[in-house]
Amino acid sequence: MKSYPTYLDHNATTPCHPTVLEAMMPYFGTHFGNASSSHHPYGWMAEEAVEMAREQVAELIGAQAKEIVFTSGATEAINLAIRGVAWANKAKGNHLITLETEHSAVLDTMKSLSKQGFEISYLPVNEDGLVSQELLKKTFRKTTILLAAMFANNETGLVLPVGEMAAMAKQNEVLFFTDGVQAVGKIPVDVREAGIDLMALSAHKMYGPKGVGALYLRKSQPHIALEPQITGGGQETGRRSGTLNVPGIVGLGKAAELALNEFQEDALRLSALRDELEEGLLQISGSEVNGSRKNRLPHVSNISFKGIPGKPFLLRINKGLAVSSGAACSSITDKPSHVLTSMGLDAETAMATLRFSLGKSTNSEDIAHAIDWVREVHRDLKQSSVSYS
Ligand SMILES: Cc1ncc(COP(=O)(O)O)c(C=O)c1O
Repeated sequence: MKSYPTYLDHNATTPCHPTVLEAMMPYFGTHFGNASSSHHPYGWMAEEAVEMAREQVAELIGAQAKEIVFTSGATEAINLAIRGVAWANKAKGNHLITLETEHSAVLDTMKSLSKQGFEISYLPVNEDGLVSQELLKKTFRKTTILLAAMFANNETGLVLPVGEMAAMAKQNEVLFFTDGVQAVGKIPVDVREAGIDLMALSAHKMYGPKGVGALYLRKSQPHIALEPQITGGGQETGRRSGTLNVPGIVGLGKAAELALNEFQEDALRLSALRDELEEGLLQISGSEVNGSRKNRLPHVSNISFKGIPGKPFLLRINKGLAVSSGAACSSITDKPSHVLTSMGLDAETAMATLRFSLGKSTNSEDIAHAIDWVREVHRDLKQSSVSYS
């Protein structure tokens, strides 16, 4: 076995690409200026770099540069979008809709708003992870101001029909926000074509640095009212105050450029490797892929191993393979994934589930190792649970 476990957890985070790192380096040193310093070349240089990154991010998602607001990551962008829309549109209504299978950044923000007088509808999903159109249609009220539904699920890789949901929101004169974190840079994302009003994205999920992200905020008519959540120096046209993280933003821009050039090739290669992985693992008795296999991110597979004790399984697996059982932020808890239980899995099976997410560095050798390792751990656990029973 290798000294470090093989990394198949790219949905948790990706390594910073060397090209990205190289682009960022000068902005820690010689080009250290504050992008808001408008009276000298140090500031101009930083500002120029930020504006270039804004163009690069916008190009990746089919937006205009002026529609990009830089933040400290997707969690902040999500908070800005949801809280910002909620408070700015309070006079119109206090009802927001989301899905049970959203990331905690969305769910916990909704929960917090529900304590402040907002009403939230959490829509259930079917076993594929999809929400019923009929149900969604019925959930809109006169007081609904926002529908928040993710582009692609971080645990199952399911790609949701955001275009359809955005259209339904529009018909009801409701804004549509999507958490684009796992989709952007992996599959085609065109905010204009999909009719998205607001979208969050994160650099570290696409070979950029941690601690930087962006909110896409549609600028065309009808105007979107958004209440800033961080106030101060008025950066980002007042949407998000605070001195800009210039090196991080440069890194996000470079990562976006890289993604635009490479995502199609990566997707082809990684989906073939993912299929290889599934072919090997589905030979294990009791194994099953969760969620629809039709519309999935190319590099993700979520597999349950029925009849195996979940926690010891993951602990043993992690000695040879860096994977998670759910979202990175909740994988160490004893709680089963809310995404999987919402899709109808029982708690025990949800616990005995592994999320594999492949990335640029993944090769056939890694896949062969992953298959062997999961089979070995599974066999051992199965045998010991039989001998103890
Ligand atoms: C779907 C989804 N949304 C939001 C986030 C939060 O992103 P960030 O780490 O940039 O705050 C993550 C990261 O785990 C995610 O997977």
